[in-house]
Amino acid sequence: MEIIRTPAEMTAWANRVLAARQTIGLVPTMGFFHEGHLCLMRKAKEKAERTVVSLFVNPLQFGINEDLGRYPRDFSRDCQRAQAEGMDILFAPEVQAMYLPKSSTKVEVAGLTDGLCGESRPGHFVGVTTVVAKLFNIIKPHYAVFGRKDFQQLAVIERMVADLNWDVEIIGHPIVREADGLAMSSRNTYLSARERQTALCLFQAIAHARKRVQAGLVAANILQREIEELLRQEAVTIEYVSLVDQATLQPQDVLQKSTVLAMAIKVGATRLIDNANLFET
Ligand code: PAF
Repeated sequence: MEIIRTPAEMTAWANRVLAARQTIGLVPTMGFFHEGHLCLMRKAKEKAERTVVSLFVNPLQFGINEDLGRYPRDFSRDCQRAQAEGMDILFAPEVQAMYLPKSSTKVEVAGLTDGLCGESRPGHFVGVTTVVAKLFNIIKPHYAVFGRKDFQQLAVIERMVADLNWDVEIIGHPIVREADGLAMSSRNTYLSARERQTALCLFQAIAHARKRVQAGLVAANILQREIEELLRQEAVTIEYVSLVDQATLQPQDVLQKSTVLAMAIKVGATRLIDNANLFET
């Protein structure tokens, strides 16, 4: 596996691959790889002939009081893991190489970014779409794989790709969970043992919601209240509990095939998100 540090070298590699008529699969990440990231890499390898994993902790998508400064990092372990998965390239640019001092262009997807995480993290999605747009332009992938844990991010990126006519297939990978149900996340490393236990309430909320739907409940407001009550019994701060349509992200009154339960909570200082389509198992 080759490590590339500059956008120019990355694009030169991509151009050579395209000239050889091979396909490129991209896994955009902020590093500190766990099994979830490795599954995305495996999916990229299944789809494309050549694969790139990008590792860039993107300052543009962090708010001023967020965890940019302490975001977990372990470059040499990440290199080993990406190499073991057979990635061709680890693209790990410096911030100064990605954002030149004069850069003043941002990519914004309106509407879809207003609610859910967009409401509590102003500016976050502009940071995400700007960096993902840059990665697409630099790496020119045919396929890009994202995890469904960041369910709103996936919807926003799909919309950006459609709106801007990008010829890249966006692949959403199912959430990868620990054996006890906690969704894998680099931020799980912030949790103490007790907080880690408390965080399981997200998966318990999903299990409860699925059970209620299977029993025939259709009123979204009743389910929302039940989930909020369930979460309130734990030492967490609820940011949102929403039952939304998976494509439009609009709240739904009636639970139906397209309904996703989306939640964000804080356990101590750690913000966690989780979601599930309630009609899929
Ligand atoms: O999901 C992430 O890790 C990030 O938001 C992404 C897509 C790599 C953009 O920085």
